[in-house]
Formats: sequence, structure tokens, C-alpha cells
Amino acid sequence: MKIAFIASECDPFVKTGGLADVVGSLPLELAASGNKVCVILPYYRSIKSGGFKIDMFFESMCVWMGDKEEWCAVKKLKDSATVEFYFIEFDEYFDREGIYCDNANNDYADNAKRYSFFSRAALQLLKDMDFKPDIVHVHDWQTAPVCAYLKIWDWGENEIADTKSVLTIHNIGYQGVHPADTYNYTGLRWENFVSSKFEAHGAVNFLKGGIYFADIVTTVSPAYAKETLFGEQSYGMGPYLYEKGNKYVGILNGVDYSQWDPSVDRHIPFNFDHSNMSGKAKCKKVLQERFELEVNEKIPLLGVVSRFAHQKGLDILAQTIEAVLNSMEVQIVVLGSGDKELENYYFGLSERMKGKAGCHIGYSNELAHLIEAGSDFFVMPSRYEPCGLNQIYSLRYGTLPIVRNTGGLSDTVEQYDEKTGEGTGFKFDNLTPNSLYDTIGWAVSTYFDRPYHMKKMIKTAMIKDFSWKNSSKKYEEIYRQLSR
Ligand code: ADP
Ligand code: GLC
Repeated sequence: MKIAFIASECDPFVKTGGLADVVGSLPLELAASGNKVCVILPYYRSIKSGGFKIDMFFESMCVWMGDKEEWCAVKKLKDSATVEFYFIEFDEYFDREGIYCDNANNDYADNAKRYSFFSRAALQLLKDMDFKPDIVHVHDWQTAPVCAYLKIWDWGENEIADTKSVLTIHNIGYQGVHPADTYNYTGLRWENFVSSKFEAHGAVNFLKGGIYFADIVTTVSPAYAKETLFGEQSYGMGPYLYEKGNKYVGILNGVDYSQWDPSVDRHIPFNFDHSNMSGKAKCKKVLQERFELEVNEKIPLLGVVSRFAHQKGLDILAQTIEAVLNSMEVQIVVLGSGDKELENYYFGLSERMKGKAGCHIGYSNELAHLIEAGSDFFVMPSRYEPCGLNQIYSLRYGTLPIVRNTGGLSDTVEQYDEKTGEGTGFKFDNLTPNSLYDTIGWAVSTYFDRPYHMKKMIKTAMIKDFSWKNSSKKYEEIYRQLSR
């Protein structure tokens, strides 16, 4: 089959979170099993200056947006091995410091224009070049409009008119809600600005329109698919997803073990695997040194790598971590950025509790890998978690996850059984500082009092297989079902 991925992020070109990991790895797996796959991305400033070998593909391409024509260019990655990568170049929208927001963490005011344009331009590219996909696979609100453009645009006799769409929701908390006066620019026609399609509470909602027009909607874990059908976890989309019936499914994300496996990881100072863990102890030492913690192999070390967003529950951790550090023999390192209050809090914590708490505000892939490798436990107290990749990486690094029992965290972490030592982590239900305190306490006491159970869990965790092998087959089944 021919499959075109259209997305706003893709590792290694541009990444703010797990979406990039998925778009950076699933296409490779699909291509490896014989499909023809391309990926289309915006040509952001960070890609321009990222040192990639990129050629001009179309010097100018006209993209009709309702009643305005925009002229852009298209670039293509040179020497793509199996998957082809195309970039829509339109400096007015994409040559900016940030991806979705400015340095102060405020969303760009013209995001509706930026991503409706990108969605429309990606289809124009597919129409104009020699790649007529059976399926376009789009991701989150940014490219959800693609599903509508495919269905409502007059594509003439072109084969693209028959292309089917799959919309994957990586995070229902972000829906692309924009003021109604941005709708005209999209060219999505006012008859679709109704509450079953693009309209919600008088505003434009890109995700909602995408859900309506997509041939199949997926999300990134079976548990999250259930959670998003009803109640507050659905962020208002429940009825529309319910309406899709069996055209809404949860498929667990896979991970790319060529990037995230301690036996081959190029970012960590010492490699290791479950049969020889000496490298992990050495990584822990390096990590403790990097964050100026007391260098002591025997003190359990908690790691956090996260966007500082409401979703991630790091405000709850902030309410209990000082009590944890004061009452237990344990250390913590935190890597992340986003919410300014949380940035200040965790930075302040590392100043107040030097030697016990370390913090790096910002984005660092190298540190993310080191934290996975050098920590004993990985903390994710998420309010909701569509899939979550970090806990899956943690499992492979023998870094036992301490997680809220929600979404993909429920699906991927198995609760520790204190009688048998079975399980791969520590889960809690109530998102309160007390529950989190108790669960960290449970993990720390297991570390000190039941080292034989720790050993058993670490081994169980490290040999779990969350590679794309299984999940990419599930996507292929869906594509095939649609293209019949
Ligand atoms: P989400 O997509 O909601 O942020 P995931 O767990 O699915 O959560 O994926 C997060 C990805 O982003 C992981 O690859 C993680 O290592 C990476 N990441 C998050 N914050 C940072 C950071 N500050 N520096 C480096 N990598 C980060
Ligand atoms: C989102 C979700 C995260 C998921 C990732 C990749 O950003 O928050 O849970 O793992 O997308 O699908």
C-alpha cells in the first residue's frame, strides 16, 4: 500500500513530545514490511538550521485556501533510505523560533491559519507529485483538517479523491480551538461550521471536524480509547467518538528500540542489558555527578522527563516531593519545560535541596537518555496519558515506573505483587499528593527491603517487547480494510 503521513512533528526533524517519536518510527516499520511510505512536515526554522541534507523539490506550489491563494515551496530530504520526507516551506508561518508557541509558552495567534494551510498544502503536494496514496494518516488537531479537505474539496478526476484517511488522536486535551473568524481562511466551507462537524461553542474545533470526516479514528492505547468515550477524560469529544462506533479504536504505540535500548544507546556513557547491569550503576554515578547529587549507588534515584503541562500531574508531585525527600532516603532528577510556575518550582527545589534534588529546565535528548539509564525509578503521575512513551522506555532501561493508573500507563505497566515479586512497576489510582507519597514510599521500601523483588521486576521489565512489530500490523489491517 501507499501511505502518506502528514504531521506537525517527526523525530529527528522536530520534536516537542511523543508524537514525534511515533511519526519518526511507525513509517519506518511500515516501509520495512513492504509499504511505500512518505512523511510530510512543515519546514520549520529548526529543520532549516538542523544540518539535514535537503533539496528543493517544487520551487513553487499554489495552495488555494478558500478565496486566497498562497504560494509555497516544497523541499525533500536527500538520500532518504526507505521513507521519503517532504517539507512544506512557507516562511510566513513556519520560520519562527517556536513550533506551536512563543518563548513565553503562548500559542501563536495564527495557529488556525498555519495548520489549515499546512493540511491543505500537504494534499496539494500529493496531488501534484507522483505519489497517489491509498491512505493518508494524520495526527492530532494540527492535521485533522486533512480528513475534511479530502472529502469536501473538488479534486476533479484526480485519484486523490479516493484516498482514505486515518486520524490518530495522540492527545484529546489539545483540540485546536480557534476563534470563529479564522474559519473563513481555511476554505472548509461554512456549511461544515455546524456542531456535528467543526463548530463547538461558537468556535472552530479542528479535532472535532477531523473526527467527523476521518474514515477511521484511532488513539494510542486501548485503555485511553475507552476513557475518551465518556466523562471528563473525553474533553467533550465522547459523543462524537461514540458515534464512530467500530471506526474508533485504540492501538498501543510501539517504540523504536534502535534509539531507546540501553544495550545500543549512543547517548549514554555506558551500555548495559539485563544480563549485565554494571553499566547501569555507572550511568547512575554519572547522573548523580551531572546533577550534583550525593554520589552513592545505594540511594534510590527517581527520574522525571516531561513536558510541564497540566496533563502530566507534576503539580501533584510538587505538593509532596519535599516531604518525600525529607522523610525518605531518596534522590530526584527532573528534566522538563513548559509551565513557568512549575519550572520555577523545580528549579527552586534543586537549589533548596542541593545534593538530593537536581533539575534541568529545557529540552535535552542526551539528558533524557541519561535519566532513563541512570535512575532506579521513573515517575509519571499523569492526570491522563494517551499512551506515554517514557514509561515504556523506562521498562527497557530497568528503571521501574511509578505511575498513575490511567490510559497507556495502565496498559503498559504491571502492578508489583508484593507476595511474588511479579510486575514491572508501581501504580496508584487517586491523583493526590498522599497517594503519590505512599506509592513512592512503597517503591523506596521495596528497593531497601526486598532487593530480590527489585531484581526480578527489573529483569521482567527489561525483556518486555513494545516494539512496533505488533502495533504496525494493526495499522496495516486498518489501512487494508479501508482501501478494499
Ligand atoms: P508526551 O508526548 O505527552 O510529551 P510521551 O511520554 O509520549 O509524552 O513522550 C515524551 C517524549 O518527549 C519522550 O521521548 C521524552 O523523552 C521526550 N521529552 C519530553 N520532555 C523532554 C525534555 N525536556 N527533554 C528531552 N526530551 C523530552
Ligand atoms: C501524546 C500523549 C502521549 C503519547 C504521545 C504519542 O503527546 O500525551 O501519551 O505517548 O502523544 O502518541
